[in-house]
Amino acid sequence: MRARALCLALLAAAAAALPRSASIDSIGLGASIAGNQTLVSPGGVFALGFFTPDAAEPGRRYLGIWFNSILEPRPTVVWVANRQSPLVDSPGILRVSAGGRLVVLDGNNGTVWSSAAPTLNVTTGATARLLDDGNLVLSADGSGSEQSVAWQSFDYPTDTLLPGMKLGVDTRAGITRNITSWSGPDDPSPGAYTFKLVLGGLPQFFLLRGTTRIYTSGPWNGEILTGVPYLKSNDFTFKVVWGPDETYYSYSIGATSLLSRLVVGGDAGQVQRFVWVNGAWSSFWYYPTDPCDNYAKCGAFGYCDPDQTTQCNCLPGFRPRSPQQWNLRDGSGGCVRSTSLSCGGGGGNGSSDGFWVVNRMKLPEATNATVYAGMTLEQCRQVCLSNCSCRAYAAANVSGGASRGCVIWAVDLLDMRQYTKFVQDVYIRLAQSEIDALNAAAAAANSRSSPSKRVVIAVVAAVAGVLLLLAVGCCCCCVWRKRRKRQGETGSSAPGGGADDVLPIRVRKHPALDEDWRSAEKDVDLPLFDLDVVLTATDNFALHNKIGEGGFGPVYMGKLEDGQEVAVKRLSRRSMQGAVEFKNEVKLIAKLQHRNLVRLLGCCIDEDERMILYEYMHNQSLDTFIFDEGKRRLLRWQKRFDIILGIARGLQYLHEDSRFRIIHRDLKASNVLLDRNMVPKISDFGIARMFGGDQTTEHTKKVIGTYGYMSPEYAMDGVFSMKSDIYSFGVMVLEIITGKRNRGFYEVELDLNLLRYAWMLWKEGRSVDLLDEVMDGSFNYSEVLRCIQVALLCVEVQPRNRPLMSSVVMMLASENATVPEPNEPGVNIGKNTSDTESSQGLTANNVTITAIDAR
Ligand SMILES: *[C@@H]1O[C@H](CO)[C@@H](O)[C@H](O)[C@H]1NC(C)=O
Ligand SMILES: *[C@@H]1O[C@H](CO)[C@@H](O)[C@H](O)[C@H]1NC(C)=O
Ligand SMILES: *[C@@H]1O[C@H](CO)[C@@H](O)[C@H](O)[C@H]1NC(C)=O
Ligand SMILES: *[C@@H]1O[C@H](CO)[C@@H](O)[C@H](O)[C@H]1NC(C)=O
Ligand SMILES: *[C@@H]1O[C@H](CO)[C@@H](O)[C@H](O)[C@H]1NC(C)=O
Ligand SMILES: *[C@@H]1O[C@H](CO)[C@@H](O)[C@H](O)[C@H]1NC(C)=O
Ligand SMILES: *[C@@H]1O[C@H](CO)[C@@H](O)[C@H](O)[C@H]1NC(C)=O
Ligand SMILES: *[C@@H]1O[C@H](CO)[C@@H](O)[C@H](O)[C@H]1NC(C)=O
Repeated sequence: MRARALCLALLAAAAAALPRSASIDSIGLGASIAGNQTLVSPGGVFALGFFTPDAAEPGRRYLGIWFNSILEPRPTVVWVANRQSPLVDSPGILRVSAGGRLVVLDGNNGTVWSSAAPTLNVTTGATARLLDDGNLVLSADGSGSEQSVAWQSFDYPTDTLLPGMKLGVDTRAGITRNITSWSGPDDPSPGAYTFKLVLGGLPQFFLLRGTTRIYTSGPWNGEILTGVPYLKSNDFTFKVVWGPDETYYSYSIGATSLLSRLVVGGDAGQVQRFVWVNGAWSSFWYYPTDPCDNYAKCGAFGYCDPDQTTQCNCLPGFRPRSPQQWNLRDGSGGCVRSTSLSCGGGGGNGSSDGFWVVNRMKLPEATNATVYAGMTLEQCRQVCLSNCSCRAYAAANVSGGASRGCVIWAVDLLDMRQYTKFVQDVYIRLAQSEIDALNAAAAAANSRSSPSKRVVIAVVAAVAGVLLLLAVGCCCCCVWRKRRKRQGETGSSAPGGGADDVLPIRVRKHPALDEDWRSAEKDVDLPLFDLDVVLTATDNFALHNKIGEGGFGPVYMGKLEDGQEVAVKRLSRRSMQGAVEFKNEVKLIAKLQHRNLVRLLGCCIDEDERMILYEYMHNQSLDTFIFDEGKRRLLRWQKRFDIILGIARGLQYLHEDSRFRIIHRDLKASNVLLDRNMVPKISDFGIARMFGGDQTTEHTKKVIGTYGYMSPEYAMDGVFSMKSDIYSFGVMVLEIITGKRNRGFYEVELDLNLLRYAWMLWKEGRSVDLLDEVMDGSFNYSEVLRCIQVALLCVEVQPRNRPLMSSVVMMLASENATVPEPNEPGVNIGKNTSDTESSQGLTANNVTITAIDAR
């Protein structure tokens, strides 16, 4: 109520400020307004008059409607009469002609614009009135009643849809209402972008650039527009009316004082809703929003999932048409069937085809689909089976939770995408053999995910996990450089849970391969790059592209043809990070997807060359920042805190949130990479280990890792667990705070290493002294203390006293979290402390840790 009163007061103030004598809201037959005169709606919400959009061209004038209360910095025009034919150097007159048309005249009484013929014969009492919803209405008899409307501006939208306006087709009146962008911010003439309804099949709205479809709302299913599942909000209600006479979208606003408009425009072409808040238009939502909104991004039978790195996926039972193009993240070529339909084979009765349901889907483009209003889904299935050209079916109207009618696609399925919440099921027709394979994969997935099973840590288990998880991860096909014979094709599967969580995911079938290496590699369902591609990208491993030397070989930067920058880790031939560590790393990261983990793009295997391609990290590793005299000055407290929190989140994901428990085992500042925005990403999974089921610890005889970061129990006894990672994390946090290496730190006078020094300061209540002295004073004292306290908890001697990463994240992120008192840190004293060996130094002969010899 207050908002409304305020708004009205504002409006009144605005109206009072206007220098006009008495505002009128209507003109009668033969009457006119000219020059600076305006019509103002009764409540003062909208004004109609002539305006000059471009101050640089004051001679170009248009007749338009704008919000009367919003004049600064310029009026927000919502409708333009003569957008194609401006008045040039002439004041302009609006008149209601004797025939009941609105006409815009220039200084010589020449007609510049004229409204369409009125749909009713007008009387002498006819009036044109501007209403408070922004509609300019010509009432045939001046009564203003709905029946007397002979013409209205709402039937001829320009680029803006106001509440109550309709976007769609009125077949009875023969009116098509679409919105078309302005040519430019100062030019109301029709621009490139149009948002409109396309009839046929299910109603669906398209954003066009010229005649090219660039985005669609998805088909209307009686309940929602399936491409905009989150459209509903408390402030707006929208409806789509789908009937024989007219089909349209329109919306209304709960709080009538709220000013809002839906506009098509912008440089990139967007449909955007604005609301007026605090004296400015703020964007409420806009479409297209993400790459998956691009029309038919993944081609025929592909679907887009924005949460996946690769985004484009093939529907179950389909494989990429061009694997190479697909590898390069261009999904537009779409997918083809792995097994052709039996009825396509010639004369079969279709009995050996079936359906696989995919859900949470934006329905495929449906303007060419056929709708059978009266059919049940079962009938639909039969119809689809009996018609060879049928590819899929779905319920046509799911209003109120029921399924009524059905829609059948006898065309390629285009423009599907998957959502995280329920949208709608689509039944995809597949060969029965394909369905059987999918069912078998689903059953296998179910039994694997049964919690009672303790998964043994072995490559076998890893492979099983890979099969399952890679399916959701990046899916691409192998391209063997030398032997290009295509191996087993993609199938799909549905993991456990009820029908409602059936995901279209992919697993690979793998025919027996002869070479050991390949047989292990077949599970790694991620892009395999041709050696040629890598050579081109890195300029034949040019020296100037070398960005580092890891434990197992040099790292180069490069640029793929599509512009993507990559880091290529080239495993040296002599390195013993042979098959096992390589596979370990590839498999592990391939299935991990987190903002704070480095992203694997693919690998390249060619004879004895083995390479891993990552996304390139512009700011290299954390140690190059925090331990660098110059660069660490750039890291202010807030940045450091964000980095700490980011690493914590990445580690929490590894430990607790990913499907398997992953112990990194070599967390250190040099294994945390920083992207362009200084977002930290954990990298280097060469010695990481996957724990399954309820396993929490493991023992190894070969301790590898990096002194200084290794927990006492790991360094001395070879016991590693999440808690040993957490110890390393704690060390890293202290390093980030102090800007000093735990390894190199030595407080000479007190004979203390970094951890002991931090502990001493903590006990003395002087923890803030730990802060890097190059940091300026702009830090949050309590945040710093909390970080130090959490770090000290993480490095406690007793693993059981160290908090889990989820608690760490909580304690770090929340100001009100209770953080326990730390005890004395555990300092790894078992080893010669002058030893500066790192995992990167521990190459070849020492590295025998594999998933197999661990048992
Ligand atoms: C119309 O407005 C412009 C700008 O405010 C002013 O220069 C001009 O004199 C006005 N014309 C009339 C007829 O009031
Ligand atoms: C335009 O028409 C009006 C009314 O019909 C008339 O009074 C006026 O003189 C005309 N102006 C010109 C330039 O013809
Ligand atoms: C308008 O009037 C003409 C002749 O008077 C008549 O033929 C026509 O049907 C009328 N149109 C409408 C829409 O009433
Ligand atoms: C938009 O609607 C107008 C008026 O019906 C029509 O002339 C125009 O062709 C439509 N634009 C597109 C792109 O369909
Ligand atoms: C046709 O369907 C029947 C059962 O519905 C099946 O037994 C028969 O093998 C099918 N024929 C062909 C040619 O697929
Ligand atoms: C739909 O059908 C029309 C007319 O046959 C065709 O031009 C158009 O390409 C089809 N659209 C799709 C997406 O298949
Ligand atoms: C199969 O379906 C398509 C599209 O619905 C339709 O045009 C065609 O007539 C149907 N064919 C048969 C044999 O029913
Ligand atoms: C969809 O179903 C609802 C609920 O029965 C009904 O009111 C609505 O008219 C249906 N829509 C169409 C287009 O048939």
